[in-house]
Amino acid sequence: MPLRLTTCLALYLIFSAAQAHAQGAAAIKQGQRLWQQRCTDCHALDTDETGPRHRGVFGRRAGAIKDYDYSRALKRSQVTWDARSLDRWLTDPERFIPGQNMDFKVSSSAERAALIAYLQSLSSPGVGAGLTPARTQHAAPDMPPR
Ligand code: HEC
Repeated sequence: MPLRLTTCLALYLIFSAAQAHAQGAAAIKQGQRLWQQRCTDCHALDTDETGPRHRGVFGRRAGAIKDYDYSRALKRSQVTWDARSLDRWLTDPERFIPGQNMDFKVSSSAERAALIAYLQSLSSPGVGAGLTPARTQHAAPDMPPR
């Protein structure tokens, strides 16, 4: 029954796309909550505090905010913030970029993935509320381990 098989396949694809979409949205929401709990002691979205502002950080070069006084190490790192570099940074900033100034780690890889999904959503155009899923899903918790 090739026709029925095709229908099944189509339904399966639609279902998995919808599921990936929902998972992405859930990760962003969880990431937003974690960000508010863990990061706002030092970071804000649109102002520089102890740490530099976060809106737009996904996709930005490390050390790129002109008015913020970064460590030399971070400024010279030549890192661009994407899912992989953010994951390494949040795992252990000092191991990733020795001499940097951020004294904070996130040990859970699922929490890092959610935080990264949230930061990424802030960099996607037209994401006013910060809760629309980002265009790409690779920062979702099912990101393969390195
Ligand atoms: C104890 C204070 C503190 C906390 C808590 C903190 N940060 Fe930071 N963060 C900093 C400082 C200070 C820097 C600047 C590091 C440097 O100049 O070397 C920084 C830099 C960064 C950068 C690089 C930004 C850029 O413009 O290059 C990212 C990304 C970042 N933090 C993410 C996070 C996330 C996500 C969290 C929450 C899970 C977090 N930070 C929690 C202090 C903190």
